[in-house]
Amino acid sequence: MTDHQPTPEDRFSFGLWTVGWRGVNTFGEAIRPPLDAVDAVHRLADLGAYGVTFHDDDLIPPGSPPADRDGILKRFRAALDATGMVVPMVTTNLFSHPVFRDGGFTSNRRDVRRYALRKVIRNIDLAAELGARTYVCWGGQDGAETEAGKDDRAALDRLREAFDILCGYVRDQGYDLRFAIEPKPNEPRGDVLLPTVGHALAFITELAHPDMVGVNPEVGHEQMAGLNFTHALAQALWHGKLFHIDLNGQRGVKYDQDLRFGAGDLKEAFFLVDLLERSGYDGPRHFDFKPPRTEDMDGVWASVAGCMRNYLILKEKAAAFRADPEVAAALEASHVGELDRPTLGPGESVTDLLSEELDLDAAGPRGYHFERLDQLALDHLLGVR
Ligand code: GCO
Ligand code: MN
Ligand code: MN
Repeated sequence: MTDHQPTPEDRFSFGLWTVGWRGVNTFGEAIRPPLDAVDAVHRLADLGAYGVTFHDDDLIPPGSPPADRDGILKRFRAALDATGMVVPMVTTNLFSHPVFRDGGFTSNRRDVRRYALRKVIRNIDLAAELGARTYVCWGGQDGAETEAGKDDRAALDRLREAFDILCGYVRDQGYDLRFAIEPKPNEPRGDVLLPTVGHALAFITELAHPDMVGVNPEVGHEQMAGLNFTHALAQALWHGKLFHIDLNGQRGVKYDQDLRFGAGDLKEAFFLVDLLERSGYDGPRHFDFKPPRTEDMDGVWASVAGCMRNYLILKEKAAAFRADPEVAAALEASHVGELDRPTLGPGESVTDLLSEELDLDAAGPRGYHFERLDQLALDHLLGVR
């Protein structure tokens, strides 16, 4: 893979809303023309992606008459057939329309919550028809600017109710579909419900069908909260809850930058690829980024190619790091493997533990040599090893 040319075996996927982002932000209007979903499918396939994902409204403009909807889906399916592209994941837009200004599943208004559920359920049918196995739920506007205006415990009740209803629906229909909650700490709301992977994992344990719900961690979202994404990824894996992943780039605690993968915190990108590739995760490597407003459509496709290229380069670097005998020796010197050994041996009891002493004078001065290990990782990442 020395040319770092992506192929469908790499399982790279992109949201229609990423390449199709027209650049509307708080201060600026649209700077790129609308992108036809069919063109997006063809371009992504040509560049080596295997999958495309979408919000209901990305593909079918809200309020489309049934005949238009059928026509759009026919063209879209033809593009999938022509390219061999798949739809591994689908999601819902519960944030753009003014009606969602106080959220979807957790709006204070009951009629909005009922509408949000209908919108999701209708799109779940489409997701199942297209063969998607994962349904992402990003809260979007589920949050608050004032504590006085939102009873968080009631909001969590309603969020649980929504997932219980949706899981029940999927079971009743016999669909092979799981939900992945996408945490985000803020934006567009001042504070968003289920702000981090840890919050989402705890929430899932309260559901009627916890086995059907996992997480969709996004690199930049954990980093917006000042958290370490690789640690969040590790914990999601540890719980068996990594159902999907949103890869992108972010530089520190600020607005959601959605940079292309590899831009932003490159070292964390290295360690997350290292972990993901060794984890047994065989789902999509999904890029959720926004090509900057400076770019025309050529720049959009260049940034798409960059996401995949950076992933493949980091995958190669991480594999070389793991295969390096000096790294193996450094891991040994840092006692990394020793953490796999249970702290009590087989058949040992607390009595055995209590009967033992540690020579603190001898044990205290021992170093862990992590700096040497980390430098070897940096040497690989910087391309000097
Ligand atoms: C963001 C989010 C969204 C969601 C998407 C899927 O950048 O704030 O990542 O892009 O992933 O809406 O529901
Ligand atoms: Mn984001
Ligand atoms: Mn995302």
